[in-house]
Amino acid sequence: MTASSTRSAPGKSDASQMDAVAVTVKGGDVVYFDGRYLLKHEVVVSPDDRGFLLGDGIYEVAAAYDGRFVALDRHMDRLRASLREARIDESVADPLESVFTGLLERNGYADSGKTIVYLQVTRGVAPRTHAFPKAPVRPTVYAYAGPFPDMGDFSAGVGAIVRPDLRWSRCDIKSISLMANVLENQRAKETGAFEAILVRDGTVLEGTHTSIFGVLGGEVRTAPLSNLILPGITREIVIGLCRDNDVALREEPMSEDELRRAEEIFLTGTTTEVVAIISLDGKPVGDGRPGPITVRLANLYTGAIRTGAT
Ligand code: PDD
Repeated sequence: MTASSTRSAPGKSDASQMDAVAVTVKGGDVVYFDGRYLLKHEVVVSPDDRGFLLGDGIYEVAAAYDGRFVALDRHMDRLRASLREARIDESVADPLESVFTGLLERNGYADSGKTIVYLQVTRGVAPRTHAFPKAPVRPTVYAYAGPFPDMGDFSAGVGAIVRPDLRWSRCDIKSISLMANVLENQRAKETGAFEAILVRDGTVLEGTHTSIFGVLGGEVRTAPLSNLILPGITREIVIGLCRDNDVALREEPMSEDELRRAEEIFLTGTTTEVVAIISLDGKPVGDGRPGPITVRLANLYTGAIRTGAT
């Protein structure tokens, strides 16, 4: 069975038409594009889309466990903040919370499994100019659901490298322009590491696609929110878990030197959860195994997800 077999009249894009697509297809084939649920191969993106030409858009990634999203309200808030800061019409977010759940339902992910929903909004389709299009255009919205990316087994920890942060200065906006992140993550992979930890002016900020924490003198440290890091949702949940469980934590940046001396280092992210970093530039962190505070927080995080306490 395909989604198109029951889809109502093409061309209509109001919410009632969206909801009229009541077909479930296994395996992430049903996507959301510009107000409608379609099969992925039916999506046509204009080559004049400003996301394609200029990287002029923002995105969001949320995880669902057995059909239940982790902190969807916080993802929606961050989506709206990214839209606002990018000066893209914030009202496009209005129907999108239901799209997150709609994609799970339509792809057979509503009850089981670890699933992500990726959603992006670009400024829309217009002849290429650096300034916004003269006549207002409708933002392009695209979203899909799928199983967690298969990144291997993290339980024994992963390696990281330290790299200069060459990104722009609005890392708080979840921009789709990710070339610096892509290049540094690729560099990590080519050295056998999982993540590159980005350092600006001697200060440890975050990874290419994860938030970074260290443990120094038994105290958990992570960079405070600013324009130089993404306000990670997993970061926020882990900070809450520290507070609720008497784990000492300070939102104060580590220097590169402190990072290299840290007893433990771990990363957090929607698709990675909480993962120990056991080597830095090829040298062991601590005794080269996941440390006790990291393991405790990883377990607390898993527990919070399982009980829906996020
Ligand atoms: N990455 N920092 C950066 C630069 C990120 O891209 C991400 C997320 C994080 C962690 O944020 P959160 O806990 O909200 O996932 C931190 C997503 C998953 C991605 O780009 O696929």
